[in-house]
Amino acid sequence: MSQSSALPQSQSGVFITFEGIDGAGKTTHMDTLERLLKNQGREVVRTREPGGTPLAEKLRNLFLHDAMDPLTESLLVFAARRDHLMQVILPALARGAWVMCDRFTDASFAYQGGGRGFDLNVLRTLEGWVQDQKQPDLTFLFDLPPAVAASRLAAARQPDRFESQDMAFFERVRQAYLDRQAQQPERFAVIHADASSEAVGEQIHQIIQAKGWA
Ligand code: TYD
Repeated sequence: MSQSSALPQSQSGVFITFEGIDGAGKTTHMDTLERLLKNQGREVVRTREPGGTPLAEKLRNLFLHDAMDPLTESLLVFAARRDHLMQVILPALARGAWVMCDRFTDASFAYQGGGRGFDLNVLRTLEGWVQDQKQPDLTFLFDLPPAVAASRLAAARQPDRFESQDMAFFERVRQAYLDRQAQQPERFAVIHADASSEAVGEQIHQIIQAKGWA
């Protein structure tokens, strides 16, 4: 990687990502963890992908609502990610903040790779260009059957280009997440999200405790 695109590697903060199919129920538990970390006096940067910077939020809007082929989709989401890393995530980690990000690169492997069936080698190349070796320190994967997740999505809400996909799409997304977890097991904590909110919260608390973070 050339000087101009190399990432600064210094980090004293902690990078946590939250993944899972639409309707897995990440948001409530992100709220709880954010409160817990802030109560400990830690700086928390709560962010999301695609998005997290003014440019990446504009790309998010195109990504979620405009029709495009899978390569265009992948290029857009990785362009947004690059901006997000350079402007927000890496500077926050360098100053010692805790970054809590709603989705990251695992979502590209799951949705574009698994859901759309797009070439994983192209995704790996984009991953290498955009983030070099940088990976989250911990990824919570909220795993549950797509039928359960679908029933949780608010019926009133207008679905985006992904939420409107059929059950088979979300089966592929789920499997691609699990494949990614099997490849990098040390980075992932799989949450059995087909449980009550209290039981899911308890799983997360135990993981945080085991890491010495609570
Ligand atoms: P999300 O923020 O979970 O949507 P919402 O605000 O509706 O809860 O994610 C937006 C959608 O983008 C989601 O359906 C997954 C999809 N996505 C991808 O397809 N690839 C990616 O790399 C990312 C980050 C998200």
